[in-house]
Amino acid sequence: MAKGSRDEVLNPLTKHRKRISDITMREMFALDPNRFQRFSATGAGILLDYSKNRIDEDVMEALFELARAAGVEERRTQMCEGEHINITEDRAVMHMALRYQGDKPVTVDGKDVMPDVRGVLAAIEAYSNGVRDGSIRTHTGETFTDIVNIGIGGSDLGPVMVTLALEPYTRPDLRAHYVSNVDGAHIHDILKRLDPKRTLFIVASKTFTTDETMTNAHSARKWLADAVGEEAVPSHFAAVSTNIAACAQFGIREDRIFGFWDWVGGRYSVWSAIGLPVALAVGYDNFAAFLRGADAMDRHFLETPLENNLPVIMALLGVWYRNAWGFSTHAVLPYDQRLSRFPAYLQQQDMESNGKSVTLGGKKVEWSTGPIVWGEPGTNGQHAFYQLIHQGTDVIPCDFLIAARPHENLPPHHDKLVANVLAQSEALMLGKTKAEVVEELKAQGLGKDAIKELAPHKVFPGNRPSNTLFYPQLTPETLGSLVALYEHKVFVQGVIWNVNSYDQWGVELGKQLAKALLPKVQGEASAEGHDSSTQGLVGYYLANKGP
Ligand code: F6P
Repeated sequence: MAKGSRDEVLNPLTKHRKRISDITMREMFALDPNRFQRFSATGAGILLDYSKNRIDEDVMEALFELARAAGVEERRTQMCEGEHINITEDRAVMHMALRYQGDKPVTVDGKDVMPDVRGVLAAIEAYSNGVRDGSIRTHTGETFTDIVNIGIGGSDLGPVMVTLALEPYTRPDLRAHYVSNVDGAHIHDILKRLDPKRTLFIVASKTFTTDETMTNAHSARKWLADAVGEEAVPSHFAAVSTNIAACAQFGIREDRIFGFWDWVGGRYSVWSAIGLPVALAVGYDNFAAFLRGADAMDRHFLETPLENNLPVIMALLGVWYRNAWGFSTHAVLPYDQRLSRFPAYLQQQDMESNGKSVTLGGKKVEWSTGPIVWGEPGTNGQHAFYQLIHQGTDVIPCDFLIAARPHENLPPHHDKLVANVLAQSEALMLGKTKAEVVEELKAQGLGKDAIKELAPHKVFPGNRPSNTLFYPQLTPETLGSLVALYEHKVFVQGVIWNVNSYDQWGVELGKQLAKALLPKVQGEASAEGHDSSTQGLVGYYLANKGP
């Protein structure tokens, strides 16, 4: 889509869609006993089964051709070579350097960034080890029991998601909490359970100007100063930012400021010092393993032919459904309770990256771009929204995620979990025909009239697509590989859609307007000049806000 008109690019896909619409996946599986072998691949220890998709070899060939025509491989090289592919911010996109395990230089703007990257990692290691082993102590000389990370968006979602995912590696005596929302309820409800004398705050903000984060940071500082004294701030605060000067101005000790760089996008920053709360919660060795897992997926992405390349395959299937079929949402359904925040994390990664409607050249795109990404862990979702996935009028391509080995020895829980995830993808693919429903109802002893009435409600259309990602166990390495897999998927889709996946101008207008509205909701300025809806709402607020 990067090259050629919309018709040139989409016509072959549309032709394939029309052709393959005549046959269901159920029929394709019946005709080809090797379909699983044909349409599955592994990378960094993760199995991707993509056989339950509306594809055949010709479709996949057309999609790989599309990736080549769009210049995915060339763009991948440009990214690795530190070119400023984030053109609207004139920045390189180098988050892969943060987890690079090799010994070659990685150059951005003529400078090898690896010594700085490894320097910050060493500082994270020393600090997290010190807090964990008690050699770094509170103002009053005690050990820390609670860590509160204050950040939002990419400075929150990644560490939250990873900390939850790696719960088996955490320690009960050092708990990580996350405050993000400017809603005072968030910080209030977290701090009310904590002892200020034993609490460590990390202020995480790439820019160190984000209003929510700075507001929460000042409230946290006041809470600490009121309880323990202003002089406790240096021992109880650390910061993670690219804006070192602003951190120092906030009063953070120089050796407690962990830097990163403008070539790391917020939503790609969990591998940087933004991962500090993770290192504190699960130990530096596990954080390092998380980085190694991501690097393993990077190698897979960079070195594997497109045809066996997991991120490329997943990206192309997404394009297939978005552009040839018009499906507008994509569900991520981890059958792994500890991945409960993985869909939320991917919402930022995917929707902030590819939720764009202007091409790299500044023209309006003539095709659909990023889908709405959503999801919840199974089996819970089965008892909530799966009804719509199975029988609703929209087709929702799904990713199922499942580990082969649980961390707990609690039979039969995991076998049941696996049976459920496999049942869902099978049910979506097979569906249940009217004839099958009628047979089933007859066998249950229902009469003709009852069957006629009930049967249409019990039919499942089937032919609904899904991927299954199977991994050995949710270890730090596996988690790193999974996150990197989706990052690269988003990259490939961005190249095909010809958008800049690395800026986020769409979040700016709301920030600007909130700034302008603040004095009005504080009653210090008139709301006159705003539209009548906004004026009316400000009026309601002022009348009801109380003293
Ligand atoms: O509002 C969007 C955004 O800029 C995200 O891209 C970013 O992850 C988040 O805000 C937080 O930004 P910062 O780390 O600079 O506080």
